Amino acid sequence: MNRSSFLKIIFLFSCVVVLLATFSGESRAWDNGLALTPPMGWNSWNKFGCNVSEDMIKSMADAMVSSGMKDAGYQYVVIDDCWQVSRDENGFILADEKRFPSGIKALAGYVHSKGLKFGIYSDAGKKTCAGRPGSQGHEFQDAIQYARWGVDYLKYDWCNTDTRNAQEAYSTMRDALAATGRPIVFSMCEWGTAKPWQWAQSIGNLWRTTGDINDHWEGKKKWPDGGCCSLGMLDIVDMQVGLEGAAGPGHWNDPDMLEVGNGGMTNLEYRSHFSLWTMLAAPLIAGNDLRSMTPETKAILTNKEVIAINQDALGSQGRRVRKDGDKEIWVKQLKDGSRAVILFNRGAAETEISVNWTDLGYPEHLSASVRDLWAAKDLGKFSGKYSAKVASHETVVLRVTP
Ligand code: GLA
Repeated sequence: MNRSSFLKIIFLFSCVVVLLATFSGESRAWDNGLALTPPMGWNSWNKFGCNVSEDMIKSMADAMVSSGMKDAGYQYVVIDDCWQVSRDENGFILADEKRFPSGIKALAGYVHSKGLKFGIYSDAGKKTCAGRPGSQGHEFQDAIQYARWGVDYLKYDWCNTDTRNAQEAYSTMRDALAATGRPIVFSMCEWGTAKPWQWAQSIGNLWRTTGDINDHWEGKKKWPDGGCCSLGMLDIVDMQVGLEGAAGPGHWNDPDMLEVGNGGMTNLEYRSHFSLWTMLAAPLIAGNDLRSMTPETKAILTNKEVIAINQDALGSQGRRVRKDGDKEIWVKQLKDGSRAVILFNRGAAETEISVNWTDLGYPEHLSASVRDLWAAKDLGKFSGKYSAKVASHETVVLRVTP
């Protein structure tokens, strides 16, 4: 073969490779190598709102370690809205000097010194939801500043975006983060408005699927300004049904942060909240004051067997396979072939709930071991089905292993 034929073959081969790469799979997941299991951490918003400061964040990082949260897998300490006040004459974002006198870089350093990772918040509009400067028009400048500070996680909100297109706005910040060369988890907070589960896999590591959670069991609540509405925990759960296919390693549906320990639900209800988030392969971002947790709150947030369901490497989001009035069964497939199962009673009275092995995709005659994860108890081997009494608002979490 002469040199020119050889070059032609090489050229044609390269064209085929490029074409295959372009047309194989219509929405390739954005792969920054992060969040291969749902991110776990803590965020200031649910408990503290705008009342954030360097001292509070430092003490929260301390508490994340001393409480056992870090050992249980929680990693990211994220400051939500209100850390920023203005921009300097060159357009760089400035933190509130009164609340963060040592600056954000020093704070990130402190969090890192605890073996944790550091997160921050901005918004795709001109202003954040609390009226602080947003990133619109400053995306690359903000991203480079975050990288210089040592930021590991960005929550990016959707207030004051007017007619902006969500895919364009979030892609711009994704590109800005990627251009820094620093690995930064990208948490999209677009509230599900433009159905991000249909397109965000190629843009972010997680995306909110709904409006904001409110610390109560069920029902919408008007905002203090009369606008509609924040959502009860169960309202959010119902809105996750059907979104399962979008979730997987590196890209997760986000039904909003946890309210466990904030006081608006009973401990049993918080256990259900945590169990359902676990099952949904949701990011586990605690939103309570870690410095003053009750033993009950700590026991919920740090239950390693329940967390292992959430963090399972297969990355499959659980599905509701049965709904019979107030009785529900949810199933999550796990990497070792076993199933996590939730028996959930939404009703006001105790009831019996039975799960059939066929609901789990197993043959009816199969004999399988059943473990109750909240009770930390092996219940034995069962054929065909398992039944349990479930108290009002209780969730029984099982691991069923053939
Ligand atoms: C929006 C978000 C919340 C929180 C606030 C901050 O409402 O959905 O999670 O970040 O803004 O202002």
